[in-house]
Amino acid sequence: MTVGMNKVLVIGIGLFVSCLLLQCEQVDGKEYIVGDEKRWSPDANLTQWTEGKKFKAGDVLVFKYKDPLLMVAELRDTYLFEKCALYSPGLIELYTSGNDHVVLEKGTIHFAPYTPPYCENGMKLTVHVE
Ligand SMILES: *[C@@H]1O[C@H](CO)[C@@H](O)[C@H](O)[C@H]1NC(C)=O
Repeated sequence: MTVGMNKVLVIGIGLFVSCLLLQCEQVDGKEYIVGDEKRWSPDANLTQWTEGKKFKAGDVLVFKYKDPLLMVAELRDTYLFEKCALYSPGLIELYTSGNDHVVLEKGTIHFAPYTPPYCENGMKLTVHVE
C-alpha cells in the first residue's frame, strides 16, 4: 500500500516537473531554438536550419546569444530586409535579452542581427508562417 502511494506521488511530481520544464507549451505551439546547438550565431546555417520546418502561428522562436551585438531585428518588409535596412521604418521589433522568445504570427517574417555587419555578411533568417 505504501509502495503504491509512493509510485503515484513520484509520477505526479514527475508530471509536474516536466510540465514546468516544458512550460506546457506544446498546447499553444512548438518551440524552436534558432540554429539548434549553434544558437543565434554567425556559425549557424540558418537557411539549412529552416529546411523541412513548417512554422505555424503560435509557434515560438527562441533566439539565444551572449553577444549583445547580435540583438535581433524583426522585419516584415522583404525589400528593406534584403538591403539590411533594419532600422525604422522597416523595423517591427528589436529583441535584446539574449534569450528572446518570439511568438510567430501568420505571414513572412524576417530576422537579422541589428548591428552591422552581420546582416550584410548574410546572417539572416526568414520564416514563412502558416
Ligand atoms: C547552408 O545550407 C545550404 C542548404 O543546405 C547550403 O546550400 C549552403 O551552402 C550552406 N551555407 C553555408 C555557408 O555553409
